[in-house]
Amino acid sequence: MVEQIYNPDVVIVGGGVAGLTVAINLAPRKVCVITKDSLGINTSSTWSQAGIAASVDKNDSNEMHISDTLKTAKGLGNETVARKIISESKATIKDLEEIGVKFDKNPDGSFNLGLEGAHSHNRIVGSKGDSSGIEIMRGLIDEVKKLDHITVLENVSIDSIMHENNTIYGVIGRFTDKNIPNNHVVIQSSHIVLATGGLGGIFANTTNPRTSYGEGIALAAQVGAVLTDMEFVQFHPTGLDFGLDPTPLATEAIRGAGAHLINQNSERFMLGIHEEVELAPRDIIAQNIFKQIDAGNSVFLDCRKNIGIDFKIKFPQVYSYCTKAGIDPSKEMMPIIPVAHYHIGGVKTDLRGRTSVEGLWCCGEASATGVHGANRLASNSLLEALVFGKIVANEINKEPLKQNAEVISSSFIRTYKEKTKNKIRAKKFIWQLRSTMMRNLGIVRNQASIAKGLSDIIRIERESRGMSAKLNDMILVSKFIICGAFKREESRGCHLRSDFTEENDKFLKHLDQSKHTLEKDILNIIDRRNNIDKENILAS
Ligand code: SIN
Repeated sequence: MVEQIYNPDVVIVGGGVAGLTVAINLAPRKVCVITKDSLGINTSSTWSQAGIAASVDKNDSNEMHISDTLKTAKGLGNETVARKIISESKATIKDLEEIGVKFDKNPDGSFNLGLEGAHSHNRIVGSKGDSSGIEIMRGLIDEVKKLDHITVLENVSIDSIMHENNTIYGVIGRFTDKNIPNNHVVIQSSHIVLATGGLGGIFANTTNPRTSYGEGIALAAQVGAVLTDMEFVQFHPTGLDFGLDPTPLATEAIRGAGAHLINQNSERFMLGIHEEVELAPRDIIAQNIFKQIDAGNSVFLDCRKNIGIDFKIKFPQVYSYCTKAGIDPSKEMMPIIPVAHYHIGGVKTDLRGRTSVEGLWCCGEASATGVHGANRLASNSLLEALVFGKIVANEINKEPLKQNAEVISSSFIRTYKEKTKNKIRAKKFIWQLRSTMMRNLGIVRNQASIAKGLSDIIRIERESRGMSAKLNDMILVSKFIICGAFKREESRGCHLRSDFTEENDKFLKHLDQSKHTLEKDILNIIDRRNNIDKENILAS
């Protein structure tokens, strides 16, 4: 077995916007960035369409942006974090322009700002219409390539954080490139930054790349880190229903440009439901589309009248998805479905990006800073990732440099070898897991569906017997979502319970979890389910 060993000052797991921002700002510390694919490929950051929310217009203000963020967050948004990230929004856009990122501008040099749901002002700073992620990542990658302190290890999947007696030693993983089989990589470092993105990949319908299945959350949980808000999974209202996996996104900015949501009877069903109609908060739109589909209707995005022939120029990426499916959005309606898009919860961090485990940092979608509360305002996430990426780098720069301890990694490698047997068979279980999570823990949940999701996950765990590291991570992360969703007996933001349809002040709090609480929480669900079954039998 070949083993490559690296010894940077800091290891960053994840090469999206958050990870690269940390890396760039850590100079002159030696940094190793680990990416699952080639740098910039298959990351949610590259796939993001609309852009970065920033109150750069002269008629807009940070206070208005903060107010929209907290209103959307439904009582759970952390105001201190909202103030922090929003107050940095102008400077963040300037930093990106300084490294060469080109944003869309008007002839007078001002930003050409997009509008998305629940924003009281046009404030989305974007690039080439719906290609913002591609341009922002291009700028960051070009910068990374110029900097000697950064080493990028591409095509590496991390299996474990090396951790003993409350001390972190680094990470261990393997090259995913099939030309370098069974080649382990050990990165020794006393600072680990998790910037692994989201977990949409544990749901059957998602806009996320396949590599987004909550790996960072699973890695953190395995070393005892506190997680929070795991039940808050945000569904994007408009995935393009072309039968593809992952589902291509039709950016909310299309509705901002005037598109309507209609059903097969041409009913604009959001009229009368919310005063902002198609620009209501994302949870409300997604839940109403779900209701339409549940009632047997089909739902479409109609751009024919209000965008028409401009569609191709305004939204080139979405236009290309549509033409590949044989649809011309200037003349035809686009079929849509709500899809898992963004995970609000994750590894709990403080204002400095620290997790509860010494030496372990987290930023971007994998983290939970609390800013999004129960529902995220569109395009606040790239802003959060960029601001917290810089904060984490600045905080680590303040820490004294430590000599990395030599570690014996063989115990971690053995674990990995057991985990990766039978990779092909794991696919069957991965699909079963994604399917039960979508059906039972999707847009609408209730006690029975959550318990059914749990029993499916337990069966999948029993039958798959640890055959794949990816599947193990998906199982663990699903259990945390299930436990959070079960405990939150209310509907708030993107967490909708059909058996507790109202907000309840008792739950005006974040629900923390960790590997230490998990078993008890699972037993509680099983007990509650058994009691209901018993009552039903006695009553019949
Ligand atoms: C979109 O372009 O609609 C996605 C923006 C976001 O999820 O913040």
